[in-house]
Amino acid sequence: MLTYQTAGESHGKGLAALVDGFPAGVPLDSAFIDAELRRRQGGYGRGGRQKIETDSAEILTGIWRGVSMGSPILLWVKNRDYKIDEMPTPTQPRPGHGDLTGSMKYGQGIRPILERSSARETAARVAAGALAKLLLRELEIDVVGFVSGVGAVDLTPDAATETLSAQELREIRDGNEIFSLRPDKDAEAKKAIDDARSAGDTIGGLIEVRVSNVPFGLGTHAQWSSKLDGRIAQAVAAIQAMKGVEIGAGFALAKTPGSLAHDEILWDASLRSTRSLGFVRPTNRCGGLEAGMTNGCPIVVRAAMKPIPTLLKPLRSIDLATLEPVEAAYERSDACAISAASVVVENVVAFEIAAAIVDKFGGDSLEEIKARMELQQKTLELRLPR
Ligand SMILES: Cc1cc2nc3c(=O)[nH]c(=O)nc-3n(C[C@H](O)[C@H](O)[C@H](O)COP(=O)(O)O)c2cc1C
Repeated sequence: MLTYQTAGESHGKGLAALVDGFPAGVPLDSAFIDAELRRRQGGYGRGGRQKIETDSAEILTGIWRGVSMGSPILLWVKNRDYKIDEMPTPTQPRPGHGDLTGSMKYGQGIRPILERSSARETAARVAAGALAKLLLRELEIDVVGFVSGVGAVDLTPDAATETLSAQELREIRDGNEIFSLRPDKDAEAKKAIDDARSAGDTIGGLIEVRVSNVPFGLGTHAQWSSKLDGRIAQAVAAIQAMKGVEIGAGFALAKTPGSLAHDEILWDASLRSTRSLGFVRPTNRCGGLEAGMTNGCPIVVRAAMKPIPTLLKPLRSIDLATLEPVEAAYERSDACAISAASVVVENVVAFEIAAAIVDKFGGDSLEEIKARMELQQKTLELRLPR
C-alpha cells in the first residue's frame, strides 16, 4: 500500500511527509518536487508569508544513488519562519477555522490548533504528491490542475481544451497568475481578489484536475473503501477549506435526465491496443470513473474552496477568556488562496492515482509495475472478441 502521513506546524521547525510503500527504482527529481512547492507558494493574491518561505524539500531517507530504494521516504520542508514558542495564543476564535472546537477539545488554547490546522501543512502534501508524480511520469500518466473559478468569476475552460495535451494545458495555466485556462479573464479574476482585499474580505473558488492516459480498471466496485472515486473524494475533501468535491459533471447530473447524463459506449478498432482498448466515449460526464473503477477516460475532479476564514474585517465571536462578545482574531492571511489550493488538489489527486496503481500492479519496483501494466494490457486485449 502506498500511503503518506504529514507532521509539522505552521511556525514550527518545518513540515514532514512520510511516504510509505513507494516502489523502488523511480528516479528522484528534486528540482521537480521543489518546483511544485514553489508553485504552491505562487498565484495572485498571496500575502507576506509566501515571501518569507521559499520552500524546498530535503529528502532524508529512502533514496539511494538517485533512485527510490523501496523503503519509506521522509520529505522535510523547513520553515524559515520558525517562531512557534514566541507566537501569542489568541482567545477570539475565528468562525470557519478550527479555533473554537480544537481549543475546547484539546484544552491547550487556540495556538496549537491553528498551528496544525493551518494550510502551511499542505506544503507536505504537495511534496508527497510531487514524489508520486515521479512514479506517474514513468508510466506516462499526467495530472494537471487549474483554477476554474475565483469567487463569482467563472473561469470554466473552453470545451476545446479537452483535446489538448497535458503539456499544452500546463503552458496555458502557467502563463497566468491565477493558474486558470482562461487568461482572457485574468484581469476580471484579479479584480475580484483586489476588491475582496480592499473590503477586508476574502473569496474562494473552484478547481479542476484532469488525469490523462489512465489505465483501465484502477480501483474496484467490490468494496466501498477501495472505490477510487471515494478515495479521491476523501483526499480532496480533507484539504483545508474544501467544501465540495465533484467527479465529472458531479452536482449538475442531479438535474440532468439519464439520457443526457451518461457516456455512450462506442468502439474504434484502431484504438484496440491503446489504454482505452478501443472503447470510445463521445462524452466524459462520469469523469473517468464508473462503479469506483477507471474506465479509460481521463479522470476529472472538481473541488469547491470556501473563502479563507481569517478576515481583516473580522466576524463576531466570543472571547474564550471572558465569554464576552468580541471580533474574531486576525492573523496574517491571504485574500484568496485558490491558485495555491489548485496545486494542492492536483498533488493529492496525483498521490491517490499512484496509490491505486500500486494497489493494482504491486508495489515493489517500477520495473515490476511496468511489466504488470503491459501484461494487463495484453490480458484485456485478449478478452476482446477477435
Ligand atoms: C492553499 C490554502 C491556503 C490557505 N490560507 C489561509 C489563510 O491564509 N488564512 C486562513 O484563515 N485560512 C487559510 N486557508 C484555509 C484554512 O486553513 C481552513 O479553512 C481551516 O484550516 C479550517 O479548515 P476547513 O476549512 O477545512 O474546515 C487556506 C487553505 C488553503 C488550501
